[in-house]
Order: sequence, then C-alpha cells, then structure tokens
Amino acid sequence: MDKQSYFDANRKSWDERVAIHRRDETGFYDVQKVLDGGDKLNAIEASEIGDVKGLRIAHLQCHFGLDSICLARRGASVVGLDFSSAAVKEAGALATRLAVDAQFVEGNVYDARQLLSGDFDMVYVTWGAINWLPDIAQWAKVVASLLKSGGRLYLAESHPNVLPFDWVNGRVAPRFDWRTPKDVPISDETQNTYTGAADILVNKKVYEWQHPLSDIINGLIAAGMSLDWLHEHPALTWPLFPNMTAGEDGLYRLPADHAQLALSFSLQARKG
Ligand SMILES: C[S@@+](CC[C@H](N)C(=O)[O-])C[C@H]1O[C@@H](n2cnc3c(N)ncnc32)[C@H](O)[C@@H]1O
Repeated sequence: MDKQSYFDANRKSWDERVAIHRRDETGFYDVQKVLDGGDKLNAIEASEIGDVKGLRIAHLQCHFGLDSICLARRGASVVGLDFSSAAVKEAGALATRLAVDAQFVEGNVYDARQLLSGDFDMVYVTWGAINWLPDIAQWAKVVASLLKSGGRLYLAESHPNVLPFDWVNGRVAPRFDWRTPKDVPISDETQNTYTGAADILVNKKVYEWQHPLSDIINGLIAAGMSLDWLHEHPALTWPLFPNMTAGEDGLYRLPADHAQLALSFSLQARKG
C-alpha cells in the first residue's frame, strides 16, 4: 500500500467515528458541557497554554472542533484543520450554533501550509494526533511554516515510551516497536472507537506510527524551532491500560500502589 491508501483508510474510520463521538453517549467528549457554554480542555493543556486572548491559532487535527471552540471562547481566533469531511462539517455547525470565532478547513495536515492563509501565533496539537502521521520531521516543517516568527507550538500527547505497550494476559507488555518506519505502519483492527461506545465500526482497519520523543524534538529543531519546555506527566486523557482510573481532574492514572510511569508529555516550541 502507498501513503495515500493509508490516509484513505484512516479517513474512512474517522469519518465514521464523528457521529458516534458527537452523540457522546459515554460522555467521553463532554459535548453537552461545551453546548452548555462550558470548557472541555483537559487539566494539562488548560494549565499550560497560557493566555491565548487575541492570538491567531491553527488547531491541527481538530476533530469535530470542541477544543477549537474552547480556545475561541478564551478569546483566540481559531482555524481548525482536519482531513475528515464529517468532522469539519460538524465542527462548523457547532461553531455557528455557539457563535464562536472558529473556522474549519478540510485537508491533510501535510497540505496545511497551502490550505491555511496567513501566519499564526500558535499551532495547537493535542491527544491522539501525531500517531496518524507517517513523517514526523515533515510534520515539524509544516508546523514551523504556519507560525510567524516568535510564534509557538503547543503539543500534548500520549508518551511514546508507553504507547508501544498493550495489556496482554492481565499485564502490561510490549506490542509494537518504539519507532515505526514511514513506509511500514502499524496496521490495527479496531472493533469500537476509544470512547467506550458500543457501536461496532464498519471501517475497522487503521494505520498508525510510533514516534520517539527524540524524533519529535529533533524534527522541530531541524525545522528551525527551539524548545521552551518539555513536561512529562504520570497521567493521560484516556485509559491506555484497563487498570487506570480517572481522578477528580478527569485524567487517568495507574493505581497508586503500581509503579508510576510517564504516561503523557507536553511541550512548547518556538519559531525563530
Ligand atoms: C483523536 S482525534 C484528535 C482529537 C483532538 N484531541 C481534538 O482536538 O479534538 C484525531 C484527528 O486527526 C484527524 N487526522 C488523522 N490523520 C490526519 C491527517 N493526515 N490530516 C488531517 N487530519 C488527520 C482525524 O480525522 C481526527 O479527527
């Protein structure tokens, strides 16, 4: 298969998931909270992004726009980009209904520079985004190309040191290599989406890539960015392993009597 075929398979899966996530029967996405005027940014990004009032933000892989709406409610002017037409359509409908300053564009992240006009103060990428991208160095170049001089990337993701692990026979065990070659993605079959919804997916086959932290950071440096800070967190926005439970802040953690691991990371990198 070629790169485009991997993207096509993934896009079909995302198109199908949008309606399930928008219905939000399990409450994973806090859709009703956002409809009621509330905020759904997780505790990690909410405490790290700083003041975004007046900033022009590109939200890459925006899904159906909930975070974009929350950023716009903090006073930013947001453009969300996603390659799922169903996601972009739903995001646009929500932004119109909630009267926030957020526009949405359909397209592949790798075409973002051609698709989005002007330069941005901030590129915002969070939770379950870069694992869908084969080439992290090229992604970093796209991010840098979208930013004005002095503009910043905010990235929050699952930690690449734990993503290769799975729950096998009641134990955490390695399942994937720590680095995925661009041309040989991890091919996975998924029956349900990750929100806990019971719907059985028609488009089960997806393709993903593991990117070590060093590849992410070195990619950003090669693209002309410098690192402001890097944080690691013993918490995650979703239960990677079944023994993880949600705390009062909504983040999932390993049991207190279990050896603690860095489950997620976040960073800020600046252009120029
Ligand atoms: C887990 S969701 C990201 C959710 C994100 N945390 C948010 O802000 O809501 C992943 C998103 O990436 C999008 N996506 C995956 N590969 C893409 C690509 N190559 N170009 C653009 N969007 C992509 C999917 O359509 C999906 O909406």
